[in-house]
Amino acid sequence: MEVVIYRTYEEMSQAAAREIAEVLYAKPNAVLGMATGSTPLGVYRELVRMHKEEGLDFSQVTTFNLDEYVGLSPRHDQSYHYFMHENFFKHVNIPPQHIYIPSGTTNNYKAFCEWYERRIKECGGIDVQILGIGSDGHIAFNEPGSSLMSRTRLKTLARQTIDDNARFFKKREDVPIYAITMGVGTILEARHCLLLANGKKKAQAIAQAVEGPVTAMITASALHLHPSVMVYVDEEAASELKMREYYRWIQENKPGAPRS
Ligand code: GLP
Repeated sequence: MEVVIYRTYEEMSQAAAREIAEVLYAKPNAVLGMATGSTPLGVYRELVRMHKEEGLDFSQVTTFNLDEYVGLSPRHDQSYHYFMHENFFKHVNIPPQHIYIPSGTTNNYKAFCEWYERRIKECGGIDVQILGIGSDGHIAFNEPGSSLMSRTRLKTLARQTIDDNARFFKKREDVPIYAITMGVGTILEARHCLLLANGKKKAQAIAQAVEGPVTAMITASALHLHPSVMVYVDEEAASELKMREYYRWIQENKPGAPRS
């Protein structure tokens, strides 16, 4: 796990977008794992800018989203289908048939989850998975206690997540209680993971995920079991990291480090 601390949210987002663009330059038909929430919005904005101004091409890209609320139709303005369409898909040239988002309205969740897992494999696996982090340390909707080997499945949301996400709904009671989410095990199979966090509210979750033990109580900590993870944070989200001076030191000395 490599931690990089950026001065601002914009710098963090631009760096993450650059990293994704590099993957696309090397592999134009890459499979991207997409995340929702306010955190990746800056990355999507920057990728859209690169598409419009620099010709970054998504025509061969396939995407898989991490999760979706159960019970919200794709047209609901708080569904993750709607979020992705408004904030990213409608601005770039990914063929619609290459876009996969878990269904919040299927009548057979078990069969849908198995199909979703199969589709990821059939498409060659996820090359880069973008991740945010919940204030309870979750990735996707893998709430505390989720098995670190879990697969795509239906999940009951933690009260803290419902409280956190209530800000997007008219009232707390409107927040769905269930979600369909990729599992921790599914996420760990991506070839590369990019965990993003900004703001004071994420400082504790980031400290626990990066410097705490690997535990199912903080599912982001499972990323320690993955060989290729970048953690991009702004100053505020980094504020509770005990080793933050060391992470800065590593970055400063990177250019001079011997290359293999
Ligand atoms: C939801 C999503 C997560 C996301 C988290 C943080 O719970 N399922 O994937 O990381 O929100 O959201 P935000 O980025 O808005 O803080």
